[in-house]
Amino acid sequence: TTPIILDCDPGHDDAVAILLAVGNPEIELLGVTTVGGNQSLEKVTYNARAVLEKAHATDIPVYAGCDRPIVRTQEVAASIHGETGLDGVELPVPSRPLESTHAVNYIIDTIMSHEPGTITLVPTGPLTNIAMAARLEPRIVERVKEIVLMGGGVHEGNWSAVAEFNIKVDPEAAHIVFNEPWKLTMVGLDVTHKALCTPQVQQRIESLDTDLAHFVSGLMDFFRKTYQDNQDFIDPPVHDPCTVAYLIDRSVIETRRCPLDVEIHGETTLGMTVADLRGPEPSEEECHTQVGLGLHVERFWDLVTDAIKRIG
Ligand code: BDR
Ligand code: CA
Repeated sequence: TTPIILDCDPGHDDAVAILLAVGNPEIELLGVTTVGGNQSLEKVTYNARAVLEKAHATDIPVYAGCDRPIVRTQEVAASIHGETGLDGVELPVPSRPLESTHAVNYIIDTIMSHEPGTITLVPTGPLTNIAMAARLEPRIVERVKEIVLMGGGVHEGNWSAVAEFNIKVDPEAAHIVFNEPWKLTMVGLDVTHKALCTPQVQQRIESLDTDLAHFVSGLMDFFRKTYQDNQDFIDPPVHDPCTVAYLIDRSVIETRRCPLDVEIHGETTLGMTVADLRGPEPSEEECHTQVGLGLHVERFWDLVTDAIKRIG
């Protein structure tokens, strides 16, 4: 199994990432950390706890992290995720209290107390917590197994013409994270815009006919509506669980090794992830970053549906 820390800002698609991590036996979800992003830290932290409650996963601790970007003024995604961050469904009241440790300290303590090369970080929100952890305890960089994050895009943007939300709202944090020499996989919009929750996919989930399946379907109804109204999509792209799916089965995402960097000075390109795809493809020794370019769509939805079914 793969032990992970999921660093998220739920968020409709973050919620599905949590469910995939809880419901798939290949993943050992050690803890969920939260970061201000789609909504305020307070709201997304509550949402993370509520989703775990809904998934009968009250054994998983939740740690709240940074409430704002390192340099910039906070910008939330209410147009996509609503006022609560998880609009469209009724949330259960979390029974497990929030942990008192700060997420950044939890991330550091977990990595430092486990064998080197064992802990995987899965960020699906702005990279503030991860950047702060790398600065507070630089030894985590060589100790972590790898980082598989949702963010960025080579050929696409969604929060500007060329920048994706998670990177754009805290570009300095992303710059720190992309430039530390740990093994990093960027699962960006080139991949996640293929993870569309079509009516067929949603119908398949709904036909599980569990309370949780209807909950997910409710989330998808809201997500579809905001993506139609604000992003000119027909079906919503369910970005964040693509990261977890890749950790379960590497063949789900087609990757290309290449240097990656984040633009933090550009006036029109702020938060753009720049991939140097000039050939030949560098070796693992030469280059610590790789980018996802393709998605095995059917296999992806099989994994998500199976996880929801297993949770019951
Ligand atoms: C990313 O932004 C958020 O709104 C989603 O949860 C996802 O992590 C997609 O750009
Ligand atoms: Ca997210």
